[in-house]
Amino acid sequence: MRVGGHAEWLLEPRDPDELRAAVLAVRERGLELRFLGGGANLIVRDGVLPGAVVCTERVQRLFRPDTSERPSSELLDPSVSADVAPVERGRDPRLVAWCGATLPRLVRTAQQLGLTGLEGLVGVPGCVGGGVTMNAGGRWGELWDVVESVRVLEADGTLRDLAREECAPRYRDGGLGGRLVMGAVFRLEQDAPAAVRERMRQYLLEKQAAQPVTEWSAGCVFKNPDPERSGGRSAGRLVEECGGKALRRGDAVVSAKHGNFIVNVGKATADDVFGLIADLRELVAERTGIELGVEVQTW
Ligand code: EPU
Repeated sequence: MRVGGHAEWLLEPRDPDELRAAVLAVRERGLELRFLGGGANLIVRDGVLPGAVVCTERVQRLFRPDTSERPSSELLDPSVSADVAPVERGRDPRLVAWCGATLPRLVRTAQQLGLTGLEGLVGVPGCVGGGVTMNAGGRWGELWDVVESVRVLEADGTLRDLAREECAPRYRDGGLGGRLVMGAVFRLEQDAPAAVRERMRQYLLEKQAAQPVTEWSAGCVFKNPDPERSGGRSAGRLVEECGGKALRRGDAVVSAKHGNFIVNVGKATADDVFGLIADLRELVAERTGIELGVEVQTW
């Protein structure tokens, strides 16, 4: 959302090996370590952020397996050769993505190759690492619906391949703890590219009608509360019903389109945004007794 300061150290590895080396180097020096994916769901505070930020942006391979014989655990090795031709009938319907591949590119590539299962994520920004970590998605599907396996970096620096069955993804949480996602294998199904494209078009239209997709935001700020407690009302609706859409701090304003989005309409600072989040939580708690949990990541 274009607020916040800068990192003391910024590391930009090019591939999984460099990424792992960067992480180990930061740990060796005893610096605080943070991972930056697309930054789409993140608010960074003002000033200098101490420690090192490892950015996954350049770790961005995205391809189909060259043969369906390959086990999922091999597919994320940097040596595996790529194939991006359209899928022939009966061929392997998997896609492999390193953590820095963007979600829009993943969704678009699947569509072009005649693969279905990811179109529900159309319009979701960010990248594969963050998307898998947070189980990105919405009404039309979540990323973990199609994850076959994921490669993570453990705190001690070892790589581990986790099959879907070993993971427990939930609403907006991939269930991987603090481990870094290096990449993932997605199992999709074959469909006509035109049919997938048409569904994407429909979803995007609905999304654009309800959300300020082209404005500077960090996506939904709050998690939707337990429907039993909120009478089925989403966070955005609660904010609207409590009059929160009228609130602002400086150039940080609550979106008129959707009460769960804060948008930066010019020169907002992170302080403005954090202040507005606190105001909204207080307002909703006062009026309804519901404590909204924050969904965006904050540094
Ligand atoms: N509503 C209002 N006023 C508002 C906003 C919403 O009354 O200002 C009502 C809507 O009319 C609707 C209900 O609240 O009846 C739910 O709203 P919406 O359909 O927009 O979905 P949401 O629950 O607010 C979730 C995800 C979004 C995702 C959409 C669409 C969360 C916190 N948000 O929003 O994800 O795009 O569904 O699938 O789960 C994100 O995580 O950053 C995000 C944007």
